[in-house]
Amino acid sequence: MSPDVKPPGDDPNPRATALTAASQALKERLPTLDPSELEALVRHHNARYWRDAAPEIDDVTFDMLVEALRARAPSSPALNELGDRREDDDRAPREPRIGFGDVVHARPMLSLDKCYDDDTLLKWGAQVKGAVIVTPKIDGLACSLRYDRQGRLKQAGTRGDGRVGDDITKNARGIKDVPQRLLHPPHTIEDGFEVRGEVYMAVSRFNAHYKGDKANPRNLAAGALKTKDPAESAAYGLSFFAYDLLGVDVDSEAAKRELLEKLGFPLTPAEIVPDFRVLPRVFRRFVEVCRELDVETDGVVLKADSVAEQERLGLTAHHPRYALAYKFQGESAQTTVVEIEWGVARTGVVTPVAVVEPVFVSGVTVTRVSLHNAGYARKLGVGKGARVEVVRRGGVIPHVERVLAPPPAALVAPTEWPVRGGATPLVQDGDFLVLAEPERSVDVVVSRVAHYTRIVDATGFGDKRLTQLVEQGLVTSPADLYALDKARLASLDRMGEASAQHLLDEMTARRTLTLPVFLTALGIDDLGPTVAAALADHFRSLEALRSLPSEALAEVHGIGMVTAASIVEGLKQSARVIDDLLRHVSIVAKPKVENTGSPLFGKAVVFTGTMATLDRKSAQKRVQDKGGKTPSSVTADLDYLVVGDEGSPLLGAGDKSTKQKAAEKLVAKGSKVQIVSERDFLALLER
Ligand code: IVH
Repeated sequence: MSPDVKPPGDDPNPRATALTAASQALKERLPTLDPSELEALVRHHNARYWRDAAPEIDDVTFDMLVEALRARAPSSPALNELGDRREDDDRAPREPRIGFGDVVHARPMLSLDKCYDDDTLLKWGAQVKGAVIVTPKIDGLACSLRYDRQGRLKQAGTRGDGRVGDDITKNARGIKDVPQRLLHPPHTIEDGFEVRGEVYMAVSRFNAHYKGDKANPRNLAAGALKTKDPAESAAYGLSFFAYDLLGVDVDSEAAKRELLEKLGFPLTPAEIVPDFRVLPRVFRRFVEVCRELDVETDGVVLKADSVAEQERLGLTAHHPRYALAYKFQGESAQTTVVEIEWGVARTGVVTPVAVVEPVFVSGVTVTRVSLHNAGYARKLGVGKGARVEVVRRGGVIPHVERVLAPPPAALVAPTEWPVRGGATPLVQDGDFLVLAEPERSVDVVVSRVAHYTRIVDATGFGDKRLTQLVEQGLVTSPADLYALDKARLASLDRMGEASAQHLLDEMTARRTLTLPVFLTALGIDDLGPTVAAALADHFRSLEALRSLPSEALAEVHGIGMVTAASIVEGLKQSARVIDDLLRHVSIVAKPKVENTGSPLFGKAVVFTGTMATLDRKSAQKRVQDKGGKTPSSVTADLDYLVVGDEGSPLLGAGDKSTKQKAAEKLVAKGSKVQIVSERDFLALLER
């Protein structure tokens, strides 16, 4: 196979390289500049960005420059002449508006003031009275959704310049998370009812379908949202998180979230913080929360929770004073590639990883960076010894943004891959390098089987153990785990009688699986736990699912054509694995949760309000794990209503949620329902 690498010195993106170099140089000069130089530089770079649409430095460096000026000359008039660089919908403020109709925003869509350090955060927090609500800052595109009195989606618009945006109603109708019709529209819906939030592309989706393209999830989402053909736009499978509600009389952000959730909008995690002094700690916790999300984030948003307090603090021309974005910083760094390692995934795709000299980016030390696929690595021109710029985009995924100095020798991709007793050739499929016979590779079989054991939650099957089983020829696919022979197992190195028995017991206990678990365990692209649950809920049986065309799957809420097609294809390709498994496994309708004596077993639990320690989804999952049910509304069958008001001044007397009022009525009528606090609930979970 020809490595076909760009000739050294051919910079794939000279403009971006210049931007990085100029940014680096300016950052180094910053401490030496006096106020008048800082002021001149701020004016210069602001004009290069806004007037000329030809920025010379990156956004983070510009922000540092502005902060330096603010620190040295807080009353400099240059500080009042700034536009907001990052927050325009496509980060290219001078780009011509597309030919969609206009949406005039009833209230301007402002941007957020931002900070990069704890001191500024605390200074902001000190002037906010009452609680602060903390949410991840989603790196997507702001979108406004207007609904009519019947709760029907009437119009969707981008942020545009904050006052007028593009009409993207047709494309918004293709976003699974955007309700076309609100669940239980409240009687309070009036004209002017509007939901604002962020359209984004899930990272998993981006990685599965678009990784290797130059675009990042945000740019791709921007393109998808502005595609002329709504069907094409829908096929991208965009997602949406709501973060604001207008035209409804509510008195806090927490109450908005409760209503938004009831109306069917997906929400980000959130935390209510009663005392601003702990905000830096909460921010650090949220960096972790952001990392867990299937979306790129570029910071954390903090807002005064009380609407009255928001009104008291008011707005400037650009941003509300009651809110602040604490941005992830130092998003890029330079380092050298020490080695290129090739690894193989469950799918049989061989992927290069750049091992780099350890470098600190956005709060973590990066030592390994995925290069996504062979074609991407080749186009990038990366190789051992190359100087590269590493970015943790959205503070999450380390990524080689570009090659600053080419490697001394071109990257050579492997042409074959070791398998038991020999090697299998690698074939090029577009940008991807794929094993000709993946099932012969120990690594591929190990990762497929490891995925299975992880999803069915069987313990004792670490990678080392599985490698041993696969190398010995005892396991070639997940079904073999159910047919292991005890004597043969016990005779293996580092095993013994007791461990062998443990493995057998683990598998015996997993001969009945629920349909969603079974489907997820197959490790089919696009068939993760959420999609599996939706499919299982809709079609009920594996036979039905296997016989249906992708059009039928795509009718399920939350599943688009592209996902449906890839699942149908995946199920076909896994036919043998599935048939083999079905000889050992039976699929049951409901998860069989053992009665461990938990007081929640068989009980119905509903949540209201925001909890300090758990988000609602995880709380519901914990109840289900104990054999309890989590219906969505309060009825006479309810056992517990958990009021999440711990540490939050939100729900004082006379300020109760609808659910709580309904439950109190039931209690008054003598129903069995118990209204408990978050702390009581945690105690019930523990018992
Ligand atoms: S609240 C005044 N919450 O960030 C705007 N915005 O810089 C109040 N964004 O245009 C918005 N995640 O598109 C809010 N959790 C979040 C957000 C969020 C992302 C975006 C939003 C806005 C931009 C402001």
